[in-house]
Amino acid sequence: MLKKQAHKSVKGPASHEKEKDYWILEAIEDGYWEADLKGNLAYCTNTYARILGYKQKELIGINYHKLMDAITAREVYKHFNRVFRTGKPSKTVAFEHIRKDESRLPVELSVSLILDSSGKSTGFRGIMRDITDRQHARELQESFNLMRKMLGQTIHALSVAFELRDPFTAGHHRRVSDLSRSIATQLGLSADVIDGIRISGSIHDIGKISIPSEILNKPGKLTEIEFKLVKTHSDMGYDILKNIDFPWPVAKTVHQHHERINGSGYPLGLTGKDIIIEARILAVADVVEAMASHRPYRRAIGIPAALEEIKRNNGILYDPYVVDACLTLVQTKGYLLKE
Ligand SMILES: [Fe+2]
Repeated sequence: MLKKQAHKSVKGPASHEKEKDYWILEAIEDGYWEADLKGNLAYCTNTYARILGYKQKELIGINYHKLMDAITAREVYKHFNRVFRTGKPSKTVAFEHIRKDESRLPVELSVSLILDSSGKSTGFRGIMRDITDRQHARELQESFNLMRKMLGQTIHALSVAFELRDPFTAGHHRRVSDLSRSIATQLGLSADVIDGIRISGSIHDIGKISIPSEILNKPGKLTEIEFKLVKTHSDMGYDILKNIDFPWPVAKTVHQHHERINGSGYPLGLTGKDIIIEARILAVADVVEAMASHRPYRRAIGIPAALEEIKRNNGILYDPYVVDACLTLVQTKGYLLKE
């Protein structure tokens, strides 16, 4: 009923005189508008008016300048001018309207020319779409991306702080993280899972912060008690990380990175697929990197011996799919451990 009244009090759209066309324009979710060549609104649908917080008749005759700030109006003018000069309908342009209550509304606008029967331009017309939801979704995505970036930087800082305390293993986290990421990529895991593996790899030995550096860097063999103490780093790492709401199972991965699929690992003695894939990957990367690098208590054993170790224990200690992926990377694809 209200729409009928508005229809009677406002002249119909220039190019859509028929009643049927009027109702089609009123039925669409976006706002339809027409303006003269000076940018004065000659017609708009009720939807267009409602989106901007006006009644339809309040907007007729109003210039587009009144519905946006001066800088936006200048940009919109350039846009309209281009349509006028080229005669080509515009691609959509996004900008902010100012609503009647002075709030700002992100919209997307399409513009084309209205031509009379002789082909002369008499005005503009187009569709306006409220893109508030899309804008919010984009802002949320941006803030999510920023949070992930900050999380990555925080983890990196934690890793660097740890390595400052234990310079002999400096780079171990970085190299294990890179090799784990590459194995996960070779296995075709999703980008999200790969991100989690990369992050877990970069702090997997964080629990060693609780172990005296004289023990960590002790030349020669550890005593049984010392070795027991070193083995607590999986539990310690889990305790340090368990209350952080990572979007990945970081604490669990760190907890399980010394588990072995035949149950001979620690701290829980888990077997097979009870060990999460992230930890099965980290286990192989950790062993290969550790054997390939120098340690305070021994020289580097080397990559060939490291590959022999994972081959010999393929399917015993290590997941066969992970071992195959690691061998393909190093032997076929020429993967080199980072410096
Ligand atoms: Fe470890």
